Formats: sequence, C-alpha cells, structure tokens
Amino acid sequence: MADLDDIRDGNDFGIGIPPANQSFYIKGHDHMGWGLKNRMANMFNKKSGNSVMLAFDHGFLMGPTSGLERIDLNILPLAPYVDVMMGCKGMLRSTLPPECETPIAVRADAGTTILTEMNNNVLMDVNEALAMNAQCMAIMLAIGCPSYEASTVRNLYTLVDKANPLGMPVMGITAVGKDMARDARYFGMAARVAAENGANIVKTYYAEGFEKVVAGCPVPVVIAGGKKLPEPNALELCYKAIQCGAVGVDMGRNIFQSEDPAAMAQAVAGVVHDGLTPAEGMEKFNDLKRK
Ligand code: R5P
Repeated sequence: MADLDDIRDGNDFGIGIPPANQSFYIKGHDHMGWGLKNRMANMFNKKSGNSVMLAFDHGFLMGPTSGLERIDLNILPLAPYVDVMMGCKGMLRSTLPPECETPIAVRADAGTTILTEMNNNVLMDVNEALAMNAQCMAIMLAIGCPSYEASTVRNLYTLVDKANPLGMPVMGITAVGKDMARDARYFGMAARVAAENGANIVKTYYAEGFEKVVAGCPVPVVIAGGKKLPEPNALELCYKAIQCGAVGVDMGRNIFQSEDPAAMAQAVAGVVHDGLTPAEGMEKFNDLKRK
C-alpha cells in the first residue's frame, strides 16, 4: 500500500533538457522494434517531429454530432491537411476510401455511450487494426474514476502487451470526468500512469504548467482540443502546448466545428509544424477562408 500521507509532488523535471542518449527522433522510442518505429514515423513529421491528428471518434459515444453528420462530406476533405485520421473502425472502413494516403489511427476501445454509464469499454483485436493498416490504436484511461480506473488501466496494459510485439503503437487517452480537477498535477499524473503502463503516445489536455506534464512523460504527448473555442483561442491553445513540449494535437471539435474546417486544419498545422504564433495562425486561417 502506498504511503498516502507522504506523497510529495515532483519538482525537479529538468524542463528544457532533452531526453538523454536519443538517436531516433521520437521521444522514448530508441529501443523499440523496426515496425513500431516505422508506424510512429508515419504519424510524426520527420522535419518538425510533430503531428496533427484529426480526431473524429466522437460518434461512438454521441452519434452524429455537429460537424460529424457525414464523415464522407465533412471529414474526408480534411485528410490532405493532417498527418493522421483518427476514428473508429466502422467509420474508417465505411467512409475513408482505401486510396486515402493519410495514415489512420483507430479508436480501439468501445462499449458504452453518453446515454448510460460511460467508460465500461472493451478492446478491439490487434489483428483487425493490423488488417486495416492502422498506424496506431488509441484507447481511453479513466484515471481517478472510482468505477472505471481499474478496468481502463487493464485495457491499456493488455493492449500494449498484445500490440507492441506486433509493431503496433498504442495511444493512451486521458479522460476527464465531471468531478475531476483539470490541472497540470492531474494531467501529469494521468500521463505518467499511461506511459508507465506502456502507452507509446499520450493524449491529454492542456493546462497551466503543462511543461511539467510533458517533462514527466517519457513518450510523446499530444493534446486534445476539448470543447469548441473561438479560432484564435484554439490556436493559442495549440501554441502554448507546443511551447511546453507537446508534439502535436489529436484535435476534433476545434477543427471540424470551425466555420472553415479546412482553413482551421491548415492553421493548426502552421502552429504545430511551422512554429506560427497564434496571430500568424489566424492570419493563415483568414487568408485561406477568403479563398
Ligand atoms: C475523446 O475520448 C475522444 O478521443 C476525442 O477524440 C478527443 O476528445 C479529441 O477531440 P476534441 O478535440 O474534440 O476534444
């Protein structure tokens, strides 16, 4: 049993000091096998080291929400502007043409929707993801949730054990519950738990002090966007996360619910890959929107 009365917050994260002895450009992956590294390299741009993943897996929880009514009409046209298309197996197979050149990541846990108790999820088979030529399997972790913490950690642990030996990376997604604190201390813990249990990529949310979340996590961290924000705020969120060491986004609503999703995807890419400031990103957004 942990000594719960003497848990001391970490405070020596070596912020700004790169990971030691790293030759492969993706954090924490020097010692992985060729196939897994190749899949990671297919998702993270070789020049910037970063990735814009377009998340459109929301439908498995909430059905055809705004911006996702027709994946073929709303989402497929964005594929050329992002590095990874991240969705559920049924939508990827039924609406993305096999000629799609953008790599896919598959949401690999499912089970319950917003109509019932969420997070009681089961896992997809790794062979199915391999057959789809997925570059990554993504599953959710409900850290701090009394009902589902254990089962979701078990899901991650089990999936890593099955997927990594076959060259398949696993992304751990930090869920945020209604009653959970959304601060760097919580996200830092959740990210670290995901990495400790073998996640190859951690997806979490930005919070003040995010540099500690990234520094304490030995594998790449990307951020979700969360609820739709005005475009300048969403670009600022991306910028701050990148400044703190995140290597990209796995973003949904702030792209596909934008007034111009294609322009927004490209503006986000400008911030993530080209180091644009939020103001420069907005300039890009407005230029593209006018066209
Ligand atoms: C959450 O479980 C889902 O994986 C979403 O993909 C994630 O929340 C990212 O979407 P958004 O940027 O809309 O929050």
